[in-house]
Amino acid sequence: MKYKAVIFDLDGVICHTDRYHYLAWKQLADKIGIYFDESINNRLRGVSRMESLEIILEQWKGTSFTEEEKIGLAEEKNAIYKELLKQMTEKDLSIEVKDTLERLRKSGILLSIGSSSKNAGFILERIGLTGFFDAISDGNNITKSKPDPEVFLLAAQYLKTEPGDCLVVEDARAGIDAAAAAGMGSAAIGDALGYSLADYNLKEFKELIEICGVVS
Ligand code: BG6
Ligand code: MG
Repeated sequence: MKYKAVIFDLDGVICHTDRYHYLAWKQLADKIGIYFDESINNRLRGVSRMESLEIILEQWKGTSFTEEEKIGLAEEKNAIYKELLKQMTEKDLSIEVKDTLERLRKSGILLSIGSSSKNAGFILERIGLTGFFDAISDGNNITKSKPDPEVFLLAAQYLKTEPGDCLVVEDARAGIDAAAAAGMGSAAIGDALGYSLADYNLKEFKELIEICGVVS
C-alpha cells in the first residue's frame, strides 16, 4: 500500500460545511457593514476562526475593534454557523465519500480527521461519522492553524504513523502547504485543485482508492 494513513480535512472535503462558513461570515459582515465575498472566503479555508476574523476585518475602515469585541464577533459568527449546521443530516455525507471511506478502511489504511475547526465533533455527529475515524486532530487540540503542520503531525502521532506514510486530503491551499511542511503527501480537491504544491488532484473523491493502491 502506498500510504499507511489518510488524513482528511473536514470542511470542504468530507462535507460542504465550507458553504455554511461563508453564509455565516456573510451574515455577520452584512450586519456590521463590511465588504465580504467568495474570494475573501476562499482565503479563510483552513484558517482558524479568530484568524479568519482578522482577514475579514482587513476591509474595515472604521475605528479598530478591541480584543473583547473581536471575540464577541467571532462568537456571533459561530452561533450563526452552528444554527446552520443543525440542518445537516446523514444525507449531507455523499454516497461517494462514504463508500470511499469504507473501502479505504476495509483495506487496512488508518483514517484521521485533520481540521482547524472546533466544531469537528458536532459536524461528524450530524453526518453520522461519530466514532468512524481512528483519530481526530482538530481545532480543539492545536495551537497553530494551517499552514502550520501541527494539526497533521498530531494526527500522525495519534495514529502512531510516520508523516512520510500519510496522505493529506485538502481543499485549502494553506492545508496543502501544511501537508508539505509535515513531510506528507497531499491530494487537492475543490478550491485547492491545480495548486502546484499538491502531489495529486482529485477530480473525484473516489480517485483516492487508486492513489492509495487499494485493490478490490
Ligand atoms: C476550517 C475552515 O476547517 O475551520 C475554516 O476551513 C474555519 O474556514 C476553521 O475558519 C475554524 O472553524 P470553526 O468551526 O472552529 O469556526
Ligand atoms: Mg477545508
